[in-house]
Amino acid sequence: MNIYAIGDLHLSFDPRIEKPMDIFGANWERHDEKVKESWCRQVSSDDIVVLPGDISWGLRQDEAMADLEWIHNLPGKKVITKGNHDLWWTTITRLNRLFDDITFLQNKCYMEGNIAVCGSRGWICPGTEGFDSHDRKIYERELLRLSLSLEDAKSRGAETIIAALHYPPTNDKMQGSGFTKMLEEYGVKTCVYGHLHGKEAFKNGIRGTLNGVEYKLVSLDYLDGRPKLIFRDENTEKEAQQSGGETQAAVNGKVETEGMKTEF
Ligand SMILES: [Fe+2]
Ligand SMILES: [Fe+2]
Repeated sequence: MNIYAIGDLHLSFDPRIEKPMDIFGANWERHDEKVKESWCRQVSSDDIVVLPGDISWGLRQDEAMADLEWIHNLPGKKVITKGNHDLWWTTITRLNRLFDDITFLQNKCYMEGNIAVCGSRGWICPGTEGFDSHDRKIYERELLRLSLSLEDAKSRGAETIIAALHYPPTNDKMQGSGFTKMLEEYGVKTCVYGHLHGKEAFKNGIRGTLNGVEYKLVSLDYLDGRPKLIFRDENTEKEAQQSGGETQAAVNGKVETEGMKTEF
């Protein structure tokens, strides 16, 4: 069982939703087909794909259903957290009744064996230009949601914790935040996040290891549409080696985003 991640699918399969994405640059041309092709090539039915937000342009749940169905029809188990554009997001109980292979995360964790996937939407962090008292309120609430999710993982005996946030867990100067502190306290192995689009924005995203936590930007255009392998199950690897098969190589995001529009 491997875990992959890709955020910001920004789908709009419902004919009522008109949101052509190719105006945002070359990485968004036929972006859904690109994701599907790469996803189907890499992911098997017992793998997990984490989708940290900005899933659908739909405004209501019925307008997002075609996009959720599309995700449902792809291989693997999916874990979804909310992004700032996911206005269709209704109640967590209602969403979690929709598909047996899609878990929507809110205040809880998703467990598979002794591995937990935790998460919340996140928010812009203190120190970001213009951060005001309104931001502070939302930031605090998102911190609370993340702590509930991590606490759930801890109480269920998780040995490995993967965290998924939609917003980057630091400010634009990449300074630590309440989120990074919390991830460290709970011994999170890897934190994936999205939200950043375009070459200039990518520069503001923390990547690499800070105080024991590994950070990975997984927005669709950063990954050029290829779900990123973020956790490889050692047992799967051993089995593959024993049977003489090749293990899946990690996918490196190739970035070609010069001159694209990024205001979404
Ligand atoms: Fe976003
Ligand atoms: Fe996005």
